[in-house]
Amino acid sequence: MTQIDPRALRGAFGSFMTGVTVVTALRPDGTAAGFTANSFSSVSLDPPLLLVCPGKFLSSYEVFANCTHFAVNVLAEGQEAISNTFASFKGDRFACVPHHADQHGVPLIDGAAVQFSCRTHRIVPAGDHCILIGEVADFAQSGDAGLGYVGGQYFSLGLERAAFEETSGPGICGAIVEDGDRVLMVRTEDGLRPPHCTHTERGRLVTDLREALLSKGISAELGPAYSVFDSAKPRTHHTYFLATGEARNAPPDIVAIPTADLPQQTFASPAIGRMMTRFALESRTRNFALYLGDTEEGAVHDQKTGS
Ligand SMILES: Cc1cc2nc3c(=O)[nH]c(=O)nc-3n(C[C@H](O)[C@H](O)[C@H](O)COP(=O)(O)O)c2cc1C
Repeated sequence: MTQIDPRALRGAFGSFMTGVTVVTALRPDGTAAGFTANSFSSVSLDPPLLLVCPGKFLSSYEVFANCTHFAVNVLAEGQEAISNTFASFKGDRFACVPHHADQHGVPLIDGAAVQFSCRTHRIVPAGDHCILIGEVADFAQSGDAGLGYVGGQYFSLGLERAAFEETSGPGICGAIVEDGDRVLMVRTEDGLRPPHCTHTERGRLVTDLREALLSKGISAELGPAYSVFDSAKPRTHHTYFLATGEARNAPPDIVAIPTADLPQQTFASPAIGRMMTRFALESRTRNFALYLGDTEEGAVHDQKTGS
């Protein structure tokens, strides 16, 4: 059998786009346990079954491997902070996140896109995880779009679609291309800006951007949208994507700026300056949020803790 490289396999598994859930249950002493999981899948309508895979590395593994009831909360767009809390916070996770109990006392996360209350149907051992299959006893769906996850990053398809639907007329489409701990920027007379293309057809936005990057010697993999805003004079629509890549044989106006040094740079416009400073800040925690608005005001769509 071919030797499987676990790191490469983790990357390959991670390329499958998923939603994000928080799985909760009660410990024998009645306190709550919960962890972030994207291994959720629907299984059957009759009977109504779903599954999620707790890993043996979880501090709460024994709770989930022996629970009689549990809940799966499908997180909504904007609940990235809740996902991060239930993936890595070591203190009382439930103290930070608004929630209420289902009929068995199992915590349901407020504001989740869907909350499934389950009775344990079967627990199947599976390598370094188990497969926890639940029979859905009750569920509530808010109608909010679910948070997405791929390649170790969150994405918000509902917000991105809404942003693009507002687009009309010519626009600028750029990429914040990370090359390790540096960002590839174009040096212009006015200051630094991300590499971009101008586009008139929304359908060609990503293709045009890829071609523009290649023409600057940058090969990049585009990630989720990061900032979508309008500027007034001249009226232009801007869309910036996150990306990772590298520059080879790039022209002299392409420079690699250390991410940590971004806030000290001069940028081609104040809006680009604000975007790049936010990027430098958010890259410390890798918790990137989507900005929607104009050059004067807008909203960063990230944490929705309900508080
Ligand atoms: C997006 C995402 C998805 C995850 N999916 C799973 C999963 O399906 N199963 C699992 O056991 N851990 C998963 N994890 C990791 C756990 O959430 C994390 O190891 C756990 O919360 C650590 O809890 P502990 O400190 O109590 O051990 C995921 C983490 C993230 C950020």
